[in-house]
Amino acid sequence: MVYDLIVIGGGPAGYLGAERAGHAGLNTLLIEKREVGGVCLNEGCIPSKTLLYSAKMYDNARFSEKYGVVSEKVTLDHNKVINRKNKVVKTLVAGVKAQLKKNNVTLVQGTGVITGRNNEGYEVKVDGESYIGKKLLIATGSVPIIPPIPGVKEGIEKGWVLTNREILDLKEIPDKLVIVGGGVIGLEMASYFNSAGSKVTIIEMLDHIAGNNDREISNLLMKNYEKKGITFKLSSKVTELKDGTVVYEIGGQTYTVEADKVLMSVGRRPATENIGLENIGVETERRAIKTDLRGQTNVPGVYAAGDVNGRSMLAHTAYREAEVCVNNMIGKKDIMRYNAIPYVIYTNPEVAGVGETEESAKEKGMEVDVANISMRYSGRYLAENEGGDGICKILVEKKTRRLVGVHMIANYASEIIYGAAAMIEMEMRVDDIKEIVFPHPTVSEIIREGIFFF
Ligand code: NAI
Repeated sequence: MVYDLIVIGGGPAGYLGAERAGHAGLNTLLIEKREVGGVCLNEGCIPSKTLLYSAKMYDNARFSEKYGVVSEKVTLDHNKVINRKNKVVKTLVAGVKAQLKKNNVTLVQGTGVITGRNNEGYEVKVDGESYIGKKLLIATGSVPIIPPIPGVKEGIEKGWVLTNREILDLKEIPDKLVIVGGGVIGLEMASYFNSAGSKVTIIEMLDHIAGNNDREISNLLMKNYEKKGITFKLSSKVTELKDGTVVYEIGGQTYTVEADKVLMSVGRRPATENIGLENIGVETERRAIKTDLRGQTNVPGVYAAGDVNGRSMLAHTAYREAEVCVNNMIGKKDIMRYNAIPYVIYTNPEVAGVGETEESAKEKGMEVDVANISMRYSGRYLAENEGGDGICKILVEKKTRRLVGVHMIANYASEIIYGAAAMIEMEMRVDDIKEIVFPHPTVSEIIREGIFFF
């Protein structure tokens, strides 16, 4: 059977790309080896947010007295949390399947391997069955990086060392949880398990958590979590994992910490192995598929979107990249821009931002003015965050007076940040933003407050 488009991988890039292509009238085949929705829906964004919401509710109930609400005997039933998470995932997977069907996408379960090219198009085999696609969209996503630390492999085999997949299905809350890697996954999982009662230790190689995020905000997040009882070991190198103990070094000194479970969250890498890229000559660089801003690879008609291109590795970027790919396939000019992609860490408090940080602006030689203001300027924040110490940073380019970055640590930040992304995307200047009316009282008003500093 010859399809107009074969999509390999059914995560956010793959399923959305397939839906859009089907909607545009392309005869589309989607190949998925596990379950549609990919990592994001089945073992990433959605399940983790379900867990984190339970943790937030639990904490709100436990610490409600400061708001004048007395609650007693509050408990968290981890199994119920997991069951609810499974229900949410199941509902969403069914929703994605329904959308695919509605858009006339054919779904094939199995591992797709590109085997070559003939006059009609590209051949992809799934369990010996051959399919031809005039065009391809490669959206195979990413896999967790498993560092070659002695004991890690054995630990994984024994179920002592976990990745993002297994940790979301733990039957019991571990007494002692050690997390290797203080990035997004590590921080979000630390947040849930700390609330649920684990003694959490995060071991991070760098001298700060949360990667390239605004440093001051990362430090504030760390301070918040230290207060909640999480231990951070920074500038630390894990050298060995042996039954029940994690061995690590700081400045040449060796230390150990006991662990009932260990979470490996040291990053993810594009999933480009064993999919037959070499059979049609698709170029990769450090395992990522090389694409231009239209999502096009070096092979005509072959596109790649999502984590597999190694560019941004976020589900929301994947959605847009997939749209850009499909638009270009159907002859609509479209181009991907990466300067206004928001990021969120769904901790409590949340961290969110978009655009340049002070650090990234400096690296680019971009001169910026910065307003660094307390979230307590917002009446709604003050009303709802007893003792809150959130901040919001607003970055404006000196020369153009354009908004180039917004970063904040405060709850609701995840829901506010797209507004800032829209302003950056539209290249709005300070004076344009001053004309926008924000609803009052909302936490989003912090952007309006901040912009009046310029
Ligand atoms: P990450 O890249 O965010 O963080 C990995 C951390 O591990 C870094 O801080 C790094 O310095 C540290 N590290 C690396 N090797 C180490 C070692 N040997 N010992 C100690 N520390 C080490 O990766 P993470 O957290 O695994 O997340 C993977 C991907 O999942 C990210 O690319 C992210 O885009 C995505 N994700 C996004 C979320 C969100 O948007 N809220 C939530 C969860 C995941």
